[in-house]
This record gives sequence, C-alpha cells and structure tokens, in this order.
Amino acid sequence: MADILNLIFIAVWFILPAYCANAAPVIFGKLFKGKFPIDFGKKWNKKPILGQGKTWPGFLGGILVGALIGLLQGRLFAGLLLGIGALAGDLVESLIKRRIGIASGKPWPVADQLDFVIGALLFVSLVEIPTWQTVVILCILTPGIHLATNSLAYVLKLKKSWY
Ligand code: CTP
Ligand code: MG
Repeated sequence: MADILNLIFIAVWFILPAYCANAAPVIFGKLFKGKFPIDFGKKWNKKPILGQGKTWPGFLGGILVGALIGLLQGRLFAGLLLGIGALAGDLVESLIKRRIGIASGKPWPVADQLDFVIGALLFVSLVEIPTWQTVVILCILTPGIHLATNSLAYVLKLKKSWY
C-alpha cells in the first residue's frame, strides 16, 4: 500500500506542471474574454480549424504556468516542456475533434481527459523519461482528477460544461 501511494506521489509530482498548465487556460481565456483565437476564426472544409475554445492567451498562459511550477519544483526546463506538450496535445485533440465533426466545447470522452498528458509525456521525455509505472498511473488517475477539477470549474462558473 505504502509503495503504491509512493508511486502515485512520484507520478503526480512528475506531471504537476502539465496539470497546472492544462487548467490555466480556462482562467487566461476568460481574462481575455475568449479573444485572439489561435486559428484566427478560420475554417477548413467548412469546419473551424481549431474552434473558439483555443486562444493565444490560453496557450501562452498555460505554458507560462507550466514553466513556473517547474521552476518551483527545481526543474524549470522539464516544466516548460510539460507545459508546451500539454497545450500542444490539447490543440492536436481539438484539431482532430473538429475534423471528425465534434463541435467546440462538446465532449469526446477519454481523449478530452488524456490529450494533454500524452502531449506532456512526449515532450518532457526529451529531458526526463517517466517510468512505466508513472505512465500507467497517470493514464488511470488523470481522467478522474480531470473530471473532478472540471466540475469544480463549472460550479465556479469558469467553464460552460462540467466535463
Ligand atoms: N482555452 C483557451 N486556449 C487554449 C485552451 C483552452 O483559451 N489553448 C480555454 C477556453 O476558454 C476553453 C477552456 O479553456 O473553452 C477549456 O478548454 P478545453 O476544455 O480544452 O476546450 P473546449 O472548450 O472543450 O474545446 P474543444 O472542443 O476544442 O476541446
Ligand atoms: Mg481539450
């Protein structure tokens, strides 16, 4: 039991900058009133390239927060890569969602919850390779944590949907 808790702690500590980077855009996006869409409101095959939920303030603010948490942890560069990977993973997911016809803000279960973790793990592997235990734990725990924090953001009226 103590071993498992220890592994969970290691995994959460490892990914923490990405968790924070992924949560930050909700606040940064609101701060700038959803302005400055990354796709400049452009469409591709009559569908938004990314959609109104992906903005420059959210993207850059998220990376900044990831780097900041990394700095506090004493691993600035890993934090920066976790932040970039998290936000990039989220963008790729939105790009795919729009292509398969899921509207901006509508759910795509599991992908919505894991997009940023996969991106973050890929990018951070350039400087810190996670153990397989960390990868497994994060894939199991993240959807639950993500739904819990999203629900909280919904109650606080920061997000339009609870998922
Ligand atoms: N956000 C942002 N810029 C980003 C990512 C997110 O401004 N690069 C903000 C938006 O206000 C967005 C919110 O954070 O609505 C939540 O992000 P997410 O759940 O990933 O976006 P959705 O609105 O669900 O859009 P999508 O369907 O494209 O995933
Ligand atoms: Mg998303």
